[in-house]
Amino acid sequence: MSNSIWRKKPMSAYEADIKNSELKRVLGKWSLTAIGIGAIIGGGIFVLTGTGAHYHAGPALALSFVLAGIGCIFAALCYAEFAALLPVEGSAYAYAYGTIGEFFAWIIGWGLVLEYAMGAMTVAVSWSGYFNKLLHLFGIEIPYYLKNDPFSAATYAKSMGLEHVGWGINLPAFVVTWLVTYILVKGIKEAASANNIIVILKVAAILFVIIVGAFFVNTANWTPFIPAPEMVEHADGSMKEAYGWGGIASGAAAIFFAYIGFDAVSTQAGEAINPKKDMPFAIIASLVICTILYILVSLVLTGMINYKDIVGDALKAPVAYAFDKVGQPWAVFIITAAATAGLISVMLVMMLGQTRVFLGMAKDGLLPNFFRQVHPTFRTPWKSTILVGFLVSVVSAFTPIGVLSDMCSFGTLFAFAMVCLAVLLLRYREPNLERDFKAPALKIVAPLGILTNLFLIFNLDGLAQKLAFGWLLIGLVVYFLYGKPNSNLNEK
Ligand code: ALA
Repeated sequence: MSNSIWRKKPMSAYEADIKNSELKRVLGKWSLTAIGIGAIIGGGIFVLTGTGAHYHAGPALALSFVLAGIGCIFAALCYAEFAALLPVEGSAYAYAYGTIGEFFAWIIGWGLVLEYAMGAMTVAVSWSGYFNKLLHLFGIEIPYYLKNDPFSAATYAKSMGLEHVGWGINLPAFVVTWLVTYILVKGIKEAASANNIIVILKVAAILFVIIVGAFFVNTANWTPFIPAPEMVEHADGSMKEAYGWGGIASGAAAIFFAYIGFDAVSTQAGEAINPKKDMPFAIIASLVICTILYILVSLVLTGMINYKDIVGDALKAPVAYAFDKVGQPWAVFIITAAATAGLISVMLVMMLGQTRVFLGMAKDGLLPNFFRQVHPTFRTPWKSTILVGFLVSVVSAFTPIGVLSDMCSFGTLFAFAMVCLAVLLLRYREPNLERDFKAPALKIVAPLGILTNLFLIFNLDGLAQKLAFGWLLIGLVVYFLYGKPNSNLNEK
């Protein structure tokens, strides 16, 4: 076997992986779809819509959602083709291993940590925010040092003129992470049942926003639908151009986080009853359902309130603010409760995805055996689940990570672009493989997928781009120190 970083995992080795899966196959078509929706609908739609409308697109935010949705559909079709062809846990990492080569596969796997583990961390922090808001609605307040990491606690104490206790922990984020970890260790069936219930609740909440909100739409707020470009002042005092077609594009990058998640379905290959058929269905169905809901929410939101008015605190909870503004403050309770419950399933699926990607990498020898040890009774990769739970809980409780959702988008977009490239390569190299699902017009879909996803990467926040790039560089070092020397492909 070659020692090159371009060496590929043979297609026959995937067959063996599929046969030898030790995980429990219990997920049907709709549970898989619910896993996709469970990961997609989270804080993004309730929070980023405000930023998207005010700083980027104005009422044309709906077009930003269409644009980001199109980028995702290209990627989803490519994921669906791969998921049907290679139903293995590793998702984008595994697809790249058989097509582009080991090194790229590793970098994608490493990048997926940004999407899944780091995504779970940012979601844990925003869950804490919603939970505190919910408690506040019931008149309960947690002391500031028990709901903020040490850095944010110090800033908060200073801004409020309080004497700082000198420490801080985001306790709700810490506790919720261990709750999710417990469910994930217990079993995939338990995790899927918890997810199904939460998904029903959050889809109901989104429908509520759309249907009730529609009665309060003032069409004057939609005119002009695409405002002329102008300079807008940001929170840090900088002036940036917004609106027009450029604003629609940058808005698409800004709200992209809201779409993240449908690809997590592909990490469930080892637990799906009929992966070759049901995974393509679930990936596409979950994305299409959420795209339609998102476009409608953004239309309703920008119709209920004027995008110019979404400033200050309204930016943190624009949907709740809109209902408050039209005289329906009770809706705030429903939205806050739905987001609090809804974010738990986002964490559930992200941490699930992370452990399954690690499992795939460990099976190939690129990560230590620790990551592939499956519990004899629960049949879940319990050790790695606990490790991921530990990292997510500590980082979310003690570091000010909440602002870094753009890094999560970076890792995701990078994986999406690579999956589009990989699926195209494999069609040329192995045209005769039996494909239960074929992405239509792949010659157009894949290049467009690559371009849109790279375009969105370049439109992300500059700091997040640099940090994410730094993360990939660390991955490079780990690959040469551990991954490459331990790869199963070294053996022969
Ligand atoms: N799409 C998920 C969210 O918006 C990550 O929270």
